[in-house]
Amino acid sequence: MLDFSKFLKYSKPGPRYTSYPTALEFSDAYGYDEYIQKIQNQDPSRPLSLYFHLPFCRNACYFCGCNVVFTSKEDKMLRYIEYLKRELKILSSHLDCNRQVIQMHFGGGTPTFFTAEQLKVIIDEIKSYFPNFIDGAEISCEIDPRHIDEDQMRVMSEAGFNRVSFGIQDFNEKVQIAVHRVQPYEVTKNAMDLARKYNMVSVNVDLIYGLPFQTLETFKETLRLALTLDPDRFAIFNYAHVPWMKKTMRKIDETTLPMPDEKLQIMQYTIDFLTSHGYKMIGMDHFAKPEDELFKAIKKGELHRNFQGYTTKGGADLIGVGLTSIGEGVDSYNQNFKDMKEYEKAIDDGKLPFERGVVLNEDDLIRQYVIMELMSNFKLDIRRFEKLFNIEFKTYFADAIEALKPFAEEELLTMDENYIECSETGTLLIRNIAMPFDAYMKKHAASKKTFSKTV
Ligand SMILES: C[S@@+](CC[C@H](N)C(=O)[O-])C[C@H]1O[C@@H](n2cnc3c(N)ncnc32)[C@H](O)[C@@H]1O
Repeated sequence: MLDFSKFLKYSKPGPRYTSYPTALEFSDAYGYDEYIQKIQNQDPSRPLSLYFHLPFCRNACYFCGCNVVFTSKEDKMLRYIEYLKRELKILSSHLDCNRQVIQMHFGGGTPTFFTAEQLKVIIDEIKSYFPNFIDGAEISCEIDPRHIDEDQMRVMSEAGFNRVSFGIQDFNEKVQIAVHRVQPYEVTKNAMDLARKYNMVSVNVDLIYGLPFQTLETFKETLRLALTLDPDRFAIFNYAHVPWMKKTMRKIDETTLPMPDEKLQIMQYTIDFLTSHGYKMIGMDHFAKPEDELFKAIKKGELHRNFQGYTTKGGADLIGVGLTSIGEGVDSYNQNFKDMKEYEKAIDDGKLPFERGVVLNEDDLIRQYVIMELMSNFKLDIRRFEKLFNIEFKTYFADAIEALKPFAEEELLTMDENYIECSETGTLLIRNIAMPFDAYMKKHAASKKTFSKTV
C-alpha cells in the first residue's frame, strides 16, 4: 500500500536525473577539439541511438519547459532543414555512420509542425548517412495532436516509425485555456485513430498534474477520457514550474496552481485508477500495460534512463542532432548550441554545433552508475557494483548510507549488504533517494531556484 502521508515533508527541489552529472554541470571546459576526438574514437561495436531536435511550435504552451522556437514562417523551417543536412554531413566526417542504429527519436518542439514532405526529406537524408538501422529499431516521434494529419502519419509509418507520443496534458477546458493550449478531446481521438490505423506498436500519452485550476475532480475526468483512448503507456508528469528559467511560465498565475496536498491526492488517485485498469507503475511518472517491454525490462533490472526518459535500449552512444540537442558517450555528455544564430554560425564555419558538455571523471562514473540504477530499476545490486568498480560500497558511500537511514526507517527502502531496494512508496520519491549520491548537490543546496520541486 502506498503511504502518502510521508510525502509532503520530502517536497524539495531536486533533479530528474536524465543525466548525471546534470546539465547544470555542463560547461565550456569541455572543448570542441576534445569533443571531436571523443566521437572519432567511439567504439564502433557500440550501437547508435539518434536524437533529432525539431524545435518549432506555432504558439507557446505556458507550462512548457522544453527548448522551443516559436514561428509560423515557412522559410525559417526550410532553412532549418538545410542546416540539419549540413550538420549531418559534418557529423559523418567524424563519426562512423555505418554502425548499427537501434533507436531514433524526433523530439521538440513539435516535429509534426513540419509537413509530410518535409518530414520525408529529413528522414531520407538521415537514412542516406545512417544505412544500418536494425530490424525492429525503436523509432519514435513526439506529436502534438493538433498538428498531425494522415500524410504525416503515413510518411512516418513507411519510414519505420513504430512509436508515437501524444501530448495531452489535461482535457479540462478551463485548465487548457489557462495554459494556452486548447485541444478538444476529438482532436486527440483523431490522432490516436491515425496512430492505430498506421500500426504504431506503442502509443504513449503525456498528462501533467500541477497545472492551473486542476483539482482532484477535474483530473479524474481527464483520466477517464484519456483511458478511453487505450494508450499503451502513460507519462504522468509533475508540472515543473521554473519561471525564473522559462519566461512563458510567468504568464501562469501562481495563485491558481494546486497546492501540494491536492497534487498528492491527484497522484494517489492516478495510481489507483491506472493500476486498477490494468496498467503497471514504472517508477515515478510512467505507467505501461503489463505486456509492454518497459515493464518486462524493469522486472529483469534492465531498464535504462536517458534524455528521452526510460528505455530498454542501453549500451548505445546517443548522438544529438539539431539545435540544443544533447548527446551521450561512455564518459561524456555534449550539448549543441541553444541559440539559432550560434548554431548556424558553427555549421557555416564547417564545425559541428557543439557548445558545451561535461567529461565524467572516475567519481562521476561511479555515482552515475548508482544514480541511474536507482532511477531506472529502483534497486541497486551492491555486489554487482563492487565487482564493476572494485570499490567497497559502504566505505565509498558512508555519507549517502547515513543520509538514507531515515528513508529506511520510514520503510521507503530496504538496505542491506547486498541491495538497496525501494518500496512502492519509495519509488515515487526516487529523486530524493538518488540525491544523497549526487556529489554536486551541496553546491546547489543554497539556491532554491535551480531545480523544480520533487513533489
Ligand atoms: C516536447 S514536449 C511535447 C511535444 C509536443 N510539442 C506536444 O506539445 O504535444 C514533451 C512533453 O513534456 C512535458 N512537459 C513539458 N513541459 C513540462 C513541464 N514544465 N513540467 C512537466 N512536464 C512538462 C509535456 O507533457 C509534453 O507533452
